[in-house]
Amino acid sequence: MKRNILCIGAGYVGGPTMAMIAQQCPDRKVTVVDINEARIRAWNSDSLPIYEPGLAEVVNACRGRNLFFSTDIGRGIAEADIIFVSVNTPTKTFGQGAGCAADLQYWEKTARLILQHATSDKIVVEKSTLPVRTADALSRILRSGDSAVHFEVLSNPEFLAEGTAIADLTHPDRVLIGGADTTTAHAAVAELVELYAAWVPRERILTANIWSSELTKLAANAMLAQRVSSINALSALCEATEANVAEVARAIGMDARIGPKFLRAGVGFGGSCFHKDILNLVYLCESYGLTEVANFWRQVVVINNYQQNRFVATMVRAMFNTVAEKRIALLGFAFKADTGDTRESPANRIARLLVDEHARVVISDPRALDNARTDLASLGDHVLFEPDPYVAVAGADAVAFLTDWREYRELDFPRLLRSMRRPAFLFDGRSFLDHDALFRLGFNVHAIGRTPLSHLDN
Ligand code: NAD
Ligand code: UGA
Repeated sequence: MKRNILCIGAGYVGGPTMAMIAQQCPDRKVTVVDINEARIRAWNSDSLPIYEPGLAEVVNACRGRNLFFSTDIGRGIAEADIIFVSVNTPTKTFGQGAGCAADLQYWEKTARLILQHATSDKIVVEKSTLPVRTADALSRILRSGDSAVHFEVLSNPEFLAEGTAIADLTHPDRVLIGGADTTTAHAAVAELVELYAAWVPRERILTANIWSSELTKLAANAMLAQRVSSINALSALCEATEANVAEVARAIGMDARIGPKFLRAGVGFGGSCFHKDILNLVYLCESYGLTEVANFWRQVVVINNYQQNRFVATMVRAMFNTVAEKRIALLGFAFKADTGDTRESPANRIARLLVDEHARVVISDPRALDNARTDLASLGDHVLFEPDPYVAVAGADAVAFLTDWREYRELDFPRLLRSMRRPAFLFDGRSFLDHDALFRLGFNVHAIGRTPLSHLDN
């Protein structure tokens, strides 16, 4: 009899990862629980709580067969042999470490729930991204009761990216499993390796010491974000020197030692994790007295914010140093294409900066408009939301592209231009459009890391 799997936390990670395990291991019962009843209802409906290409197909194939979504956390824990903890670990907003450290309250409550409801031995797997040495705290909580239940804590960070979650889970670059150096931990690691080996080639399943595993997750996100900030920092220099950041990135990326990925200049990284994980790393370094190391990583976030401020400054400068009362259409609010997620989206900060300049901001997005409404609720009627990009742009002085949705490449640009006020400005915050063609149509084109193409210069 294959052992039961439970995941606590039915979010962007818990839902897709467990759906993948259920699909790849049809002889396993996989249950996903959450305190959020609406979310569980959505997982049990035709309208899943998150948008992720290919996810609905995987869920539909397994739900009710060996994949179950429930709010009965106690029962789930009692029946499970392997428990993945995939609750949110946002940045702390209060008290010590506010704005930097990870808020571990959800994770800590989950640990206590496991202790309360467990009546048999469990493998407890950290799937959430956590500060290094959290496994130690988790083990101590789990050992604090009087029951004879044995808990083996492992670290198995998740590396999926939103928008490509199903592809990433199907063919992961690697699966990382960390455990202690004890006989029981070795057995637990071997069991988790076996689970993944159902579809992941063995050479891609890495085992490591538990602290290395925890730190790798923070380090991997920090390194990826660092590349984005590096190219964005260079984009500012490109604009000052008439170099073209796309050409620079291409040439840099062809060096096999550097590689071409994560060198796309733009309005900066967003998403729920880069920002919080780097700040978490900064906090950890500071708490170990590693000030210079903390400062190095903090600079990645500084450049990210600078890039968004710089983008808005470029807009204002190009539009004759005022955008007050001008209609500005922001196309794209999701933090990247193919997701409805808007957490830490650069568009959020950019919209607010433009409202500070008294612009009349209209936001459009094919998937993220509901989230955008919620995120910007405090701006009241200073911001409009419009699903149709053509309606959003009609009558605007400027259109700014903040998410590189595929459908935006295929827009009828002559039609957009005809509907705009003159002079018409186009700001490409993702460097993904054909700037020469847009300039020839009549737009004044400003793209990150490139010399502006303006009809107004002479
Ligand atoms: P999320 O906010 O989408 O989901 C977390 C879920 O946990 C929520 O639905 C919440 O209700 C639930 N929860 C909180 N406390 C609970 C409790 N005590 N009992 C039951 N459920 C509880 O978060 P997410 O994006 O899935 O991220 C989860 C973790 O995975 C984070 O640590 C994150 O850093 C990490 N991670 C996220 C991604 C990503 O792409 N979003 C990728 C890799 C790793
Ligand atoms: C990122 C990592 O890629 C995942 O490995 C990790 O599991 C995840 O964080 C996490 O821990 O949550 P994600 O944030 O979903 O995944 O998306 P990415 O594709 O990494 O993009 C992050 C941000 O960087 C986006 O806003 C994207 O537009 C931006 N980006 C990315 C650039 O601006 N330029 C690039 O070249 C690449």
